[in-house]
Amino acid sequence: MRSSLPDFPWDALAPYGEIARGHAGGIIDLSQGTPVDSTPEFIQKKFRESSDSPRYPVTAGTPELREAMRSWALNHLGATGDFDVLPVIGSKELVAWLPTILESKKVLIPEVAYPTYNVGAIIASAQAITVPINAANWPEADFAWINSPSNPTGQVHSDAQIESAINWSRKNNSILVSDECYLDFGDSAQGRSLLAIAHGNNTNLLAVHSLSKRSSMAGYRGAILIGDPKLIANIREFRKHAGMMVPLPVQNAMVVALSDETHVGDQRARYNKRRALLGPALTKAGFFIEYSHAGLYIWCTRNEDAWKSVAWLAELGILATPGSFYGEKGASHIRVALTATDEQISDAVQRIESAAK
Ligand SMILES: Cc1ncc(COP(=O)(O)O)c(C=O)c1O
Repeated sequence: MRSSLPDFPWDALAPYGEIARGHAGGIIDLSQGTPVDSTPEFIQKKFRESSDSPRYPVTAGTPELREAMRSWALNHLGATGDFDVLPVIGSKELVAWLPTILESKKVLIPEVAYPTYNVGAIIASAQAITVPINAANWPEADFAWINSPSNPTGQVHSDAQIESAINWSRKNNSILVSDECYLDFGDSAQGRSLLAIAHGNNTNLLAVHSLSKRSSMAGYRGAILIGDPKLIANIREFRKHAGMMVPLPVQNAMVVALSDETHVGDQRARYNKRRALLGPALTKAGFFIEYSHAGLYIWCTRNEDAWKSVAWLAELGILATPGSFYGEKGASHIRVALTATDEQISDAVQRIESAAK
């Protein structure tokens, strides 16, 4: 199994990290996209208060968490019809294991995409097929991923694009999973949940959400699966047997995090401010910004090999990710994460602008 997995892509970036670390002003790491803004204090407080936890947690989640996830799906995502909810240990593990749990044989993944969709297909010994966003000509398969806003491109799918994926699912009786972990971070475009567009028929449809970015809780490992009750019952049974339980202090912290949208708005404003500063600096340096309408990243190109762009930025002490990590179509793009402090982003803007002169 291990031998069929690709080399861990971040290892290839390490030498550029070394170059960036050698910059007199220090490294500004805009590669991995790990949140740097503190977890809001009210969430930390709930976590601390829950630290006495002698019993096993329940895979399905506490009644309070189940109610919080349900209300959030109804009120925030606009889910309608019959649906169920399930907490998961961060969405990366779900993405990596879902095709295995569902015994999928053929998995459609976006052409430029988060690499773990492919890893999940490999773990399941399934065939992975890359497809464009428009589903009109998608081949038959038993499972498909969509991701809006997209990592890495920041592209937001239109309702029509999501509807065409739903039509594909209905026509083929296939599972469609929408990874919506950046949905709260709209900027010049705002994405919509698959569950708001399904018109109350959630058969074969699942949406994945994560508190990692929404609430700066990546270290907690708390995410949510919402959708088709039959599928979720099946997945919950598997996870019960496999010991895939979200720790109770994390479940309690998730309840309070889901009860508040103010901190999410504040975080969205932080990321969008950083995009507004960094985007024009990259443009001045000759980069063309593509999509980047939402989410956590700027996706851009100088029409050169991605590693050349990565090397240029590394000399300025800035570490970005080559687009090739996300598929062949990203070979001349880079992904620049907005996950650095405001101070570091201002510093990065100055370094890029000075070098662009
Ligand atoms: C598209 C996408 N899905 C899922 C994840 C996994 O996030 P987490 O495991 O923190 O919920 C990420 C993380 O970067 C992502 O970009």
